[in-house]
Amino acid sequence: MSRKHADALVIFGVTGDLAHRKIFPSLYALERRGALNVPIVGIARQEMTTENLRVRARDGIERFGGGEIEDEVFERLASRIQYVLGDYSDPESFKRLRIALGEAKHPLHYLAVPPSIFGMVTANIAAGGCADGASVVVEKPFGRDLDSAVRLNEELHAVFPEERVYRIDHYLGKEPLLNLTYFRFGNRFLEPIWNREHVRSVQITIAEDFGVEGRGAFYDEAGAIRDVVQNHMLQMVALLAMDPPAAADDESLRDAKVRVLKSMRSLTPNEVVRGRYRGFLQEAGVHRDSRTETYAAVRFHIDSWRWAGVPFLVRVGKKMPVTATEVLVDLRRPPQALFEDSSDCERNYFRFQFKPFTTISIGARAKKSGETMIGEQIEMLAVHQEPDEMSAYERLIEDAMQGQAGLFARIDEVETAWRIIDPVLAANTHLYDYQPGTWGPPEACKLVVGQNAWHNPLSPVQSHSTEH
Ligand code: BG6
Repeated sequence: MSRKHADALVIFGVTGDLAHRKIFPSLYALERRGALNVPIVGIARQEMTTENLRVRARDGIERFGGGEIEDEVFERLASRIQYVLGDYSDPESFKRLRIALGEAKHPLHYLAVPPSIFGMVTANIAAGGCADGASVVVEKPFGRDLDSAVRLNEELHAVFPEERVYRIDHYLGKEPLLNLTYFRFGNRFLEPIWNREHVRSVQITIAEDFGVEGRGAFYDEAGAIRDVVQNHMLQMVALLAMDPPAAADDESLRDAKVRVLKSMRSLTPNEVVRGRYRGFLQEAGVHRDSRTETYAAVRFHIDSWRWAGVPFLVRVGKKMPVTATEVLVDLRRPPQALFEDSSDCERNYFRFQFKPFTTISIGARAKKSGETMIGEQIEMLAVHQEPDEMSAYERLIEDAMQGQAGLFARIDEVETAWRIIDPVLAANTHLYDYQPGTWGPPEACKLVVGQNAWHNPLSPVQSHSTEH
């Protein structure tokens, strides 16, 4: 076992939702393919036994693992699991944890607990003798704004150096996002046109047809901009816009992303339209005077030689008509209008569908059969993969255990992303109501003036332009 490979996994908050829905199903999947070979210590404040925890883990795997549970695989997993009752503020609990860890020298501590107690937990991990040689996994949200993110990172760094901190943004573990990087840099034909000379705009939409689903209290504190734009969206923008990484190693990829984030302009209020679905205020856990958005449309600008003047238009919303994630990279028109129908109906684009399918398609014009030189819009399907085989969490937990950091958000990525978002967090811009089941407030159209209209995922790409 290499020095970097974790030799135990500790899950703080093991009785919580994250462990139930994501961590245990992922550990089961790793166990099934023989990729798990370490003891698992779950720690939480709830009075329970190791046996109770195993039962709870099985329930999570059954409900969220997406498949029949194989008893023999589960038994193998269960035999690794051990429960430690722990009060996170009590150093004695961490001494018990150290005993439970036995000979382990490189435990991976997964903090599935609220960020507000990261500092206390990491300090006690150190005080209990569990930090030497260890690494830590944390989940978003990494703070509420730039200041709190800086403080949170300082707390983590007081115990764990940056190379031993794994910040999960689960989008980075998704197969279609990995494929985006592969498609961009595994082919030669894209690079010459992947710039302001040829690209007119880039649109990304993450739409969900459901609301806050029992997460009202959490969501009310966060809102769409903090919940998704600051992390998943900006990661997608970075992967779409970055220059080719200098090499294939973890740090080169992260350097390339940071470089593009650094050249992004901080948002101003007129680049953002916020919306809230009707009925949000009646959701459990939401304050009656809440000003939180459930929808955000944002126009980003990247001031670089490659992208200056190309808007990156992103939208995210709850209670939209569909659940889908799509990227549309719109190319400029041919410079000469050679054909009778060379009006504004031409549309060349790359379309990446990430959810519910994984496709890459190219939009082009082709001649309609007949006498006249009139064309029609066609879409060439370049890739169509089945839904993700390996879940993002499974991939990320395995990577963290192996000491591979490339798919985790580095401190400078996180802080730069907050720098971009920060000015609009405090601005409390107007909040437009929208009807559940619609594409959000029509006011978002103002962000695409001079561009093609917003493209709605899963629908054909329209020729309609807002350019006059
Ligand atoms: C999470 C957000 O990070 O991502 C949720 O907190 C959102 O609000 C979710 O629903 C979307 O992730 P996915 O993998 O379902 O697209």
